[in-house]
Amino acid sequence: MNNQTPALYADCAYTLVTQEEISAICDRLAAEIQATYENSTRRLVMVVILKGSMPFAAELMKRLTLPLELEFMKVSSYGAGTKTSGEIKISLDLKRDDLQDIDLLVVEDIVDSGRTLSRLTTLLKNRNANSVRTCTLLDKPSRREVDFVPDFCGATIPDEFVVGFGLDYDEKYRNLPFVGVLRREVYEN
Ligand code: PRP
Repeated sequence: MNNQTPALYADCAYTLVTQEEISAICDRLAAEIQATYENSTRRLVMVVILKGSMPFAAELMKRLTLPLELEFMKVSSYGAGTKTSGEIKISLDLKRDDLQDIDLLVVEDIVDSGRTLSRLTTLLKNRNANSVRTCTLLDKPSRREVDFVPDFCGATIPDEFVVGFGLDYDEKYRNLPFVGVLRREVYEN
């Protein structure tokens, strides 16, 4: 980083996942997803979890040649219990209830404690979706508080404060084209 570097970029101590690595990850994940669903006769619906997974989902979907439909949800989990059926707050829900003939692919930017996706997949299965699979760009298994393993995973990362490519701190940094580690002084004041 030099004095031409935008301040937003300079708030990152270093780049953890480069644009090129993100692109390669999306290529690999798209191939895995394609292989998983290509013989299915069901409708495939990609469920994009707002806000953070928007850039990742956009990169992923343009690499898929399967017919797929797009839906959005906004969810957050809360409560310290370890039961996967714990509380989940849904502020934007699916606009359909015909899930029995549908394969759902839930797309996330990051799995941290695992609560959000654990609870969401339980909820969607309880709505009788034919299948529910999850795809995350990033996984922090060292932070896990509930037993959850994504079906498709881009990169396993250490327990660092990451921003960029959809991930925010105080709603900023989502537009960085890479995943960076935020400098401590940015969030410790
Ligand atoms: C982030 C991320 C996941 C969740 C992961 O969302 O997008 O949904 O947290 O954490 P967990 O595994 O501990 O449940 P956030 O609530 O920050 O919303 P955002 O995507 O709108 O930033």
